[in-house]
Amino acid sequence: MNYRKLTPALYNLFLDNWMPEKFAIAGIGRSPFSDEDYFNHLLDGVTKFSRHKGKQNGHWKEYSGHVSYHQMDADDSEAYRWITDMIVAKEAEWGVKPNVIFYLAVAPQLFPSIAVNLGSLEVCSDKRRSRIVVEKPFGHDLQSAHELNALLTAMFSEDQIFRIDHYLGKETVQNILAFRFANALFEPLWNRNYIDHVQITAAESVGLEGRGDYFENAGALRDMVQNHILQIICMIAMEPPIPFDPNEIRNKKVDVLNSIRRITKEQVHDYAVRGQYSGGWKKGENVLGYREEDGVDPLSNTETFAAAKFHIDNWRWQGVPFYVRTGKYLNQKATHITIQFKPAPHYAFPSEAAETWRANRLTISIQPNMDIRIRFQAKRPGQKMTLDPVDMTFYNDAVAGEHAPEAYETLLLDVMEGDATLFMRGDQVDAAWKIIMPILETWENRIPQDFPNYSPDSWGPDDADALIARDGRTWINLPPVL
Ligand code: BG6
Repeated sequence: MNYRKLTPALYNLFLDNWMPEKFAIAGIGRSPFSDEDYFNHLLDGVTKFSRHKGKQNGHWKEYSGHVSYHQMDADDSEAYRWITDMIVAKEAEWGVKPNVIFYLAVAPQLFPSIAVNLGSLEVCSDKRRSRIVVEKPFGHDLQSAHELNALLTAMFSEDQIFRIDHYLGKETVQNILAFRFANALFEPLWNRNYIDHVQITAAESVGLEGRGDYFENAGALRDMVQNHILQIICMIAMEPPIPFDPNEIRNKKVDVLNSIRRITKEQVHDYAVRGQYSGGWKKGENVLGYREEDGVDPLSNTETFAAAKFHIDNWRWQGVPFYVRTGKYLNQKATHITIQFKPAPHYAFPSEAAETWRANRLTISIQPNMDIRIRFQAKRPGQKMTLDPVDMTFYNDAVAGEHAPEAYETLLLDVMEGDATLFMRGDQVDAAWKIIMPILETWENRIPQDFPNYSPDSWGPDDADALIARDGRTWINLPPVL
C-alpha cells in the first residue's frame, strides 16, 4: 500500500508543491528496515507507480529528508510512546503544534489494538489536530462493521475518522458531481421519465496480484460492490446538494443507499450472479485458475466475479434498474458507467433509416480512459435520409494530461486539509452493508455448483448475460483501448 500508492502520491504532492512547508512522515512497521533500505524500497515504488514515472526523481533526496522508518510491534502499548516523543520533538523544532494524521494500512486483525492504542495518545484528544485514516475493508459484514465503528467512535470523533474509498478520489468520479450539478442541461433528463436503465462495469484484466490470502476471505462482492460500486451508484443517483458541503453531500448519498430496495434471500438468484475464473489463456499467457492460486483453497467457493441488479425506490428512480458487474481476469480493464436513455417516443423517419437508429446513451469512462461521451443520431452524409449514431466526447485526459492527480493524491490532500467530502461516513458504510448482506448470506450458504464458470479473458459467466437479458437488455462493452 505504502509502496504502490501512498508514497508515490505523497511524493507527487511534494513535487507539485502541495505539501506543507514543514512536514514529517514516519513509516511504522514490523519489518527491520535500515533507513537506507527503506528509502530505496520507497523509491522503487515511486519509479514504478508514480504518474511521473520517476521522471523527477532528482527531488527524491529532498523529499526523503522528511521521511523516517520506525520498527514497532503494534500490540505493544509501551511502544506508542515513540509516537508521542516524535510529536513533541517536532513541536519543539518547528515552534508550532503539528497536526497529526495516522494512516492505518494494516491487516484487519491488527486494527482494534492499534485504534485503541492510538486513541489513548494525548494528541488524539485534540480533535482538530489529529485524524485517523482507515483503509477498507470496513468490516467483513454488517455485524463486524458495527463493531469496528463502535471501536473507532469510542476513541475518535466522527470528524476525526477518514474512511478511504479510493474510487471517490478518481478524477472522473468527482467529475460526475460537476457534470450533474454544474449544468442545467442534464438534470431535467436525469430521471425515470427519460432514463431506461443504468449500467456500471468495473472490469479488471488482472488476477489476484499476490493477494490470495486477502481475496479468499473477501470475494468480489465485498471487495468491489459493497464500497466502490455502491459509491458510484450514489454519485449517479443522489439528489442535488444544496451547499457543496461534506455532510450535505454525504447525507444525499446515504439517502440513495437507504432507498435501494432490500431483496430477500429467496430473490437473490433473480438479482445477483457470481462467478469464478478457471485457468486458461489470457492475452497469450497461460494463467492459473483461481483455485490454483497461492493462498486459495483448492475447493474455494469465493467469487471473483459478481453482477447484480439494484432498484432505487424513490420518486426519481422508480422502475429504472441499475445493473452492475465486476470481476478479475476479464477481457479488459474498463470502468465505466452507462446511462441508457429511453427511445424517442415517435419515429418519423423512413423505415430504412430505422436500421441504424439507436437510443441516446451517455457513457462516463473512469478508467483506463477518462472521458464522457454522448451518443446521438446524425444524418449520414449523402442523398438519402439515413441515420447514424455518433459520439460527442469530452476527453478529460486531453485537458489534464499528466497533471491529473491520482486518486490517493486527492484524498491525502483532503485529509491534510480536513475535508471529508470524498470519505465514507459510518452510516454510509452501514447502509452499504445492509444492501449486500442478503446476497452474501445466501451465497455463503449455497454451494455454487458450476465453479469455476468463466474463462480468463471473457466477460464473466453466461449467467451474468442472462441476468440482464431477462429484462430484454444487454451489457455494454466499450471498444478496447489500444
Ligand atoms: C481495490 C480492491 O479496492 O480496488 C482490488 O481491493 C482492486 O481488488 C482495486 O483490484 C481496483 O482499483 P483500481 O483503482 O485499479 O480500479
